[in-house]
Amino acid sequence: MRLFEKIALVTGAAGGIGRAVALCFAKEGASVIVSDINAAGCAATLELLEGLGGSGMSVQADVTQENEIKSLYHQIADRYGKLDIVANIAGGDVEPAADVEQIDYLKMSTNLDLNLKSCIISCREAARMMKPQGSGKIVNMSSLVYRGSPNQFSYSAAKGGIYAFTRSLAMSLGRYGITVNALAPALVEVPAFVSALGPERWEMLRKECAQRYPLGRVATPDDVARCALFLASDDAAFITGQIIEISGGARL
Ligand SMILES: NC(=O)c1ccc[n+]([C@@H]2O[C@H](COP(=O)([O-])OP(=O)(O)OC[C@H]3O[C@@H](n4cnc5c(N)ncnc54)[C@H](O)[C@@H]3O)[C@@H](O)[C@H]2O)c1
Repeated sequence: MRLFEKIALVTGAAGGIGRAVALCFAKEGASVIVSDINAAGCAATLELLEGLGGSGMSVQADVTQENEIKSLYHQIADRYGKLDIVANIAGGDVEPAADVEQIDYLKMSTNLDLNLKSCIISCREAARMMKPQGSGKIVNMSSLVYRGSPNQFSYSAAKGGIYAFTRSLAMSLGRYGITVNALAPALVEVPAFVSALGPERWEMLRKECAQRYPLGRVATPDDVARCALFLASDDAAFITGQIIEISGGARL
């Protein structure tokens, strides 16, 4: 068991990738705090995790609200007294496929709040717990669009910001035994995506990407979860400040 007796927080744990990460961590022996704005989805993840013999707790929190992130970390400190791993997975693109002239101030702000500012504040709270411990592993969720993406302006800016922030934090926290890395998946098949697009549009997108990616398919949530597990485990003890592209070779 690669995470035996570790305490891990996973945000976005009701979603496709977050749930896979939470279950993957639990299978490897971690107690997992599953958090999401979606309380019912969180509870469902906790039930699945317990069904696998794992343990943890479910905490509803909106990561765009600083006080809710602070409360989440306080609850973890009260219950467990330590925190070994944080996977900041919550996020999403609320302004996809908009031309630059159509950028909407509110949607842009939400993209920055939901993806970038949430990550920064969660990492701040994680650092407050992990620095005195002298150990910790932080895994942030970027996206392959950190490289830039036409029609995803505010989302790609937020995901690119996560990469810059991850590197900055790695530089600052390394001396405290804390690693900070980021994940950058290309298209991942998650239920939310499929239902938002509808089966026909999803199938067109999936096929188009699969043809373009050298490995000939899109990613599964487990592809991402296994990479998060690697970065959260001691197998990645000497890796920090990196972004790992989980893309089937999409951009080489
Ligand atoms: N699916 C992809 O193709 C893909 C690719 C690259 C990166 N990502 C990133 O992966 C992460 C997970 O996305 P997913 O694909 O699993 O989608 P998803 O929609 O299934 O999961 C996102 C989760 O975040 C939660 N969430 C939304 N707003 C929140 C808030 N304010 N506070 C707390 N939780 C909130 C949602 O309830 C949901 O459970 C996101 O950060 C996303 O940007 C996804």
